[in-house]
Amino acid sequence: MEFSIKNTQPEKQRAACIVVGVFESRQLSASGQELDSASQGYLSKILAGGDMNGRAGSTLLLHHVPQLGNERVLLVGLGKAEAFDSKAFLTAINAALSSLNATGASSAALYLLDEIVESRDIAWKVEQTVLAAYSQNFQPGKLKSKKDEAKTAGVKKLILHVASAYTKTAEKALAQGKAIAAGVELAKDLGNLPGNICTPTYLAQQAQSLAKEFPLKCEILERKDMEKLGMGSLLAVAQGSSQPPKLIVLRHNGGKKGAKPIVLVGKGITFDSGGISLKPGAEMDEMKYDMCGAASVLGTLRAAAELKLPLNIIGIIPSSENLPDGMAVKPGDIVTSMSGQTIEILNTDAEGRLVLCDALTYAERFDPEVVIDIATLTGACVIALGHHASGLFSHNDALAGEIEQAGVSAHDRAWRMPLWEDYQPQLDSNFADIANIGGRAGGSITAACFLSRFTKKYNWAHLDIAGTAWKSGKEKGGTGRPVGLLTHFLTARATSK
Ligand code: BES
Ligand code: MN
Ligand code: ZN
Repeated sequence: MEFSIKNTQPEKQRAACIVVGVFESRQLSASGQELDSASQGYLSKILAGGDMNGRAGSTLLLHHVPQLGNERVLLVGLGKAEAFDSKAFLTAINAALSSLNATGASSAALYLLDEIVESRDIAWKVEQTVLAAYSQNFQPGKLKSKKDEAKTAGVKKLILHVASAYTKTAEKALAQGKAIAAGVELAKDLGNLPGNICTPTYLAQQAQSLAKEFPLKCEILERKDMEKLGMGSLLAVAQGSSQPPKLIVLRHNGGKKGAKPIVLVGKGITFDSGGISLKPGAEMDEMKYDMCGAASVLGTLRAAAELKLPLNIIGIIPSSENLPDGMAVKPGDIVTSMSGQTIEILNTDAEGRLVLCDALTYAERFDPEVVIDIATLTGACVIALGHHASGLFSHNDALAGEIEQAGVSAHDRAWRMPLWEDYQPQLDSNFADIANIGGRAGGSITAACFLSRFTKKYNWAHLDIAGTAWKSGKEKGGTGRPVGLLTHFLTARATSK
């Protein structure tokens, strides 16, 4: 996909398709009006004929409009002019891209970014357009023996029209959009890969190849390294699988030497069967997505490296399978975590927190500015928030605010949940320092409470992405979330520091 920022008038722009907006009811946008006068009122005649009313997301494709040198003009409905908000904008952009993909046009010029969108700037419009274009061209079926022809045809070149005063801002947003889109695609691809291909070893190799492609540094800790470090909790999860666990450390050293790093910790369970506390069979295949936290960390580091962010960033990925065999950890087993705290494993399906807690203790050695962990941690979070918002947990109001803001600006939102001390007693154990489950009530909160016991030495936030990292049903597939949120969090830090 190729993008460019231009400010040519629509009637002078050469492209296989010119895309202009129409508001309800039949009101041409400014560039639409320019095209209309160039074509001596052809467009307004068509609108007057009732072929299109401008409803958000509606489209009308016209061929060989008189007086215009371009083969096609696509009219795109923008909805009510007085209510053109971010949702209407995204609806219009996605409708435009999908009807373009259904044409034979290989290039298109979009005149949709000039309209004012409530509380959004030009950078947001450019970035979201780039993300939508990548997302529509995404191929989920990479392992099919035949390529999806509809997707390989599609638009190859997109020209985004912005007023000349905005050229510089738009170019910057274009670069940021491309970097995020590439990170999102990496995260989607890794998520979609099945557990027999995407193993902990595979994730480690992916991190190593990122470190070859970009100036990132990669280190892989093996089982024996984890034994030496006393990571009894992570190792307990791994002991029922014949795939060796890996602890991946990937660093972007873009900041000043000695500047404290931002640490991102991603849950990397490449398949979660539940272990001895086996999950029910229905939809168990979706537990290949249990490494989406890890995938989002890799995607975000890729974006940070491509954007050369002036920050020190460290990604830590504890990776393992969670399977039942004769060696597997059993309900009631007590293990000692790297922190020294003992854990009674009452349910082997609450394995995410068991691998994360040792990675979070390991993070202490980097003297972090802030640590954010990202995990497909609890089904309860899906019940609480559904599929639109990730769950956000932190004791630090300023940090939580920054993350919420990053989610809004990236259109990859998170919603804050409580992390009160009142919930902690649910984790009491008669035999160990802490139990790994806290009962059905507030399941995503007690999971976060568990992690909080291991993050007392630094600023910390937790994102539960169980509801947002992938989609089920007909559109089954990884979403690449929250690469957008995390990258926005980082770019905001990079500009404020
Ligand atoms: N990976 C799952 C969480 C999950 C479940 C994500 C469904 C998305 C959809 C996690 O390891 C898990 O199994 N959590 C248990 C915890 C419970 C045993 C306390 C859960 O949510 O049921
Ligand atoms: Mn589980
Ligand atoms: Zn899991």
